Amino acid sequence: MTTTAIRTSITNGLDGSTINGSSDESLNILVVGAGIAGLAAAIGLRKQGHHVQIFEQSRFARETGAAVHIAPNANGLLKRLGVNMEAIEANKMERLTEYNSNGELQRSMDLTESNKLWQHDWRLTHRIRLHETLKKLATSDDEVGPPASLNLSSGVVDLNPHEGTITLKDGTVVKGDLVLGADGVHSISRRHVAGGEIVKPLGSGKSAFRFLIDRKAVEEDLATEKFVRHSGNLVIWYGTDRRVVMYPTSDNTLLNFVCIYPEEESEAGDDWNNDTNKEALLQVFKDFDSSCVALISKANAESLKSWKLLDMPLLDTWVNDRLVLLGDSAHPFLPHQGQGAAVAMEDATALSVVLEKGLKRSDVPARLQLYETIRYERANRMQEYSRKLGKDVQKDAKLDMIEYTNYNFGHDEFDNSTQRLREWKWAQNPKIYWRMPIAFGPMPGPRQSHYGVARNSVESTFRTASIKFKTSRTVLQNLFPPGAKGYRFKSPGTVAYCSFSCTTLDKMEWLGGTGYSHIGLYIHGVEYEKPDGQIISGTYMPILFESLTDPIVSGREELGMPKLYTAIDIFHGTGSYRIKTSWQGSLWGNFTLDGLEPDTDLAAATGKVSGEDDDGILVHRYYPKVGRDLKGQSETEYPVFVPFAEEKPQPVTKRVWKASRANIKIDPLDWNALPTLHHIVTRLGEIPIYEIVKAKVVEGEGVPDVAPARRIY
Ligand SMILES: Cc1cc2nc3c(=O)[nH]c(=O)nc-3n(C[C@H](O)[C@H](O)[C@H](O)COP(=O)(O)OP(=O)(O)OC[C@H]3O[C@@H](n4cnc5c(N)ncnc54)[C@H](O)[C@@H]3O)c2cc1C
Ligand SMILES: *[C@@H]1O[C@H](CO)[C@@H](O)[C@H](O)[C@H]1NC(C)=O
Ligand SMILES: *[C@@H]1O[C@H](CO)[C@@H](O)[C@H](O)[C@H]1NC(C)=O
Ligand SMILES: *[C@@H]1O[C@H](CO)[C@@H](O)[C@H](O)[C@H]1NC(C)=O
Ligand SMILES: *[C@@H]1O[C@H](CO)[C@@H](O)[C@H](O)[C@H]1NC(C)=O
Repeated sequence: MTTTAIRTSITNGLDGSTINGSSDESLNILVVGAGIAGLAAAIGLRKQGHHVQIFEQSRFARETGAAVHIAPNANGLLKRLGVNMEAIEANKMERLTEYNSNGELQRSMDLTESNKLWQHDWRLTHRIRLHETLKKLATSDDEVGPPASLNLSSGVVDLNPHEGTITLKDGTVVKGDLVLGADGVHSISRRHVAGGEIVKPLGSGKSAFRFLIDRKAVEEDLATEKFVRHSGNLVIWYGTDRRVVMYPTSDNTLLNFVCIYPEEESEAGDDWNNDTNKEALLQVFKDFDSSCVALISKANAESLKSWKLLDMPLLDTWVNDRLVLLGDSAHPFLPHQGQGAAVAMEDATALSVVLEKGLKRSDVPARLQLYETIRYERANRMQEYSRKLGKDVQKDAKLDMIEYTNYNFGHDEFDNSTQRLREWKWAQNPKIYWRMPIAFGPMPGPRQSHYGVARNSVESTFRTASIKFKTSRTVLQNLFPPGAKGYRFKSPGTVAYCSFSCTTLDKMEWLGGTGYSHIGLYIHGVEYEKPDGQIISGTYMPILFESLTDPIVSGREELGMPKLYTAIDIFHGTGSYRIKTSWQGSLWGNFTLDGLEPDTDLAAATGKVSGEDDDGILVHRYYPKVGRDLKGQSETEYPVFVPFAEEKPQPVTKRVWKASRANIKIDPLDWNALPTLHHIVTRLGEIPIYEIVKAKVVEGEGVPDVAPARRIY
């Protein structure tokens, strides 16, 4: 098999595509409602390559000119979607000023310093400008991904969460792979999630007037001019059960007002666009300080609306099969921290992350569940904070609009969901190796891909040169792990057998079709007796040098093998095979096999790495503890056995050469030349060679992945 063929087999199915449910297809996504939530989701999802159709009941003739906070947690997400705050004249929020209803200044905080904590600005924008921009980004041909379609005057009257269908008021049925219920506080989508038929929005006990005033008019009046001396200043007048909130927008040219009051004092519709009149406003706030009253009496009568502030008990779930709720349909927000739109954008972001490019239709319901898991706690908690800040002023409970700022602002939903999706995918496959560094996910290695798929090394090749010799049992047994009981030689004789064996591996799938070499000392005829008397016999390997970091790390950590690095140079000539081992240029080992002749008796040769017919390999795993005061203590220490019989794939020998002469020369050099290996190479050099017994080179296919390695005691 050629290297190209091997590379092909690596990409087919082993890159995780089948496991993680991705394909080249895109999803058909139906969005109910073109509010901030629906549009933000549409933008994120088209960027992922999905086909998005938005159905909006209104003609957008009714959109009111109100402002909206874009806190740092929302601004970062909007930037990703392509919204530029400066381009929509969203001025910065720079100051918070608070009065009581008598007009006495409570505090005035310059926020410019504390805002430096946040990567993204805290901005105040005109709702219409933001909405227009989102609409353009969702539907324009110039952006990444297929443009979303937006059908106006297309109220959705019913839907089927299992079929992924919606029914429009004219009876048209549209089918998709999933439905996003982004239809706001009066959501009809909500009725289709468990419990959502019963849970209804209810009055919070408060209503709010909302209107705009030209800043200029306030500036020109001596009674009110003091309120606009600072730019980006959010001002609150707190009465006990009512309050006036003012903040600038549109590059500080407009002042946006939200005046909250007990709902029984002035009737309001419970939608955004109910006209009421100025008299009602002034009546409700008549006891407020005269300069505040002077200020609100400048209300632009046309922009003045009033509506009930709605709250809702928690929904148990936002998801039913192929239907998912986001924004106010999942959790209607009270306006007290200016985070409702931000949470809607966070929901939209999380959805566009989990519905990643190429997701298969069949995997949609599980991803929607994941979205809920990611968003549920944070959205509900922020909703609860808004509730708290809407409470009436009491003596002992102080209200602080910025109390929850760190929680609200210190979050980037794109980064958070991206990580939670990763962790979720990793958790889909619990039987997967993790080793340091774990922050980046499961570690690809000889026994698995990053996705946990076993490696195919049937076509990988090996060439093993081994020199077996007679030597001293009493010298070799000093290479058993100090203090470890149970290791011994099978034979009582003082003559023992061992080999230096050097293998070159190639066409290794886990190394992208490349390979490396290793050389180790294999001590034959060893056994380990467990305390219960069970005996395991094999070849004991006190050291294995390898020429590449990756197998060293995986072998040490996953198998407990005593691997270290050394450079291995191999020269395969006609009739000769020379191996030179060195470290940073210090040559410490010469292993030569000469007079090589092909051996036709393949059956006599084995493909075993050691070149020997033992039951398996015995190694001793040892890991030190971390800590200056813990020197000399092990975190863990135990014998490990790799039974040859269980190895997969079994190596297949293709060619064998026998050598007529072989030589081993080891020079331990000194601590300067081999600062990390001198103690090892010295001991290797001390092993006497009584007689070379056998020297051969074996070539073949199929490299075992060493997965059967196991702790034996
Ligand atoms: C007084 C007040 C002030 C606020 N101030 C702020 C603020 O400063 N900052 C902030 O972040 N948040 C603020 N919020 C909250 C924020 O406005 C909402 O949380 C946010 O707009 C919710 O967005 P949404 O897209 O989920 O819902 P909506 O904006 O309500 O959008 C829902 C859309 O769905 C459409 N729709 C509804 N039913 C159907 C149907 N059956 N078929 C088709 N279409 C349908 C609607 O017409 C609408 O366009 C405030 C809220 C209030 C009440
Ligand atoms: C949505 O609008 C487009 C273009 O205006 C139209 O072709 C399409 O039929 C509409 N879809 C539905 C389901 O009404
Ligand atoms: C608007 O408010 C008035 C009271 O000011 C009320 O009578 C009316 O029903 C409301 N309209 C809607 C559409 O809610
Ligand atoms: C994601 O955000 C939540 C809520 O703020 C937090 O508890 C969690 O630790 C975050 N997760 C990650 C992976 O950052
Ligand atoms: C190994 O052989 C080379 C020549 O091929 C020689 O220069 C070197 O000294 C030898 N080293 C050892 C450790 O025998």
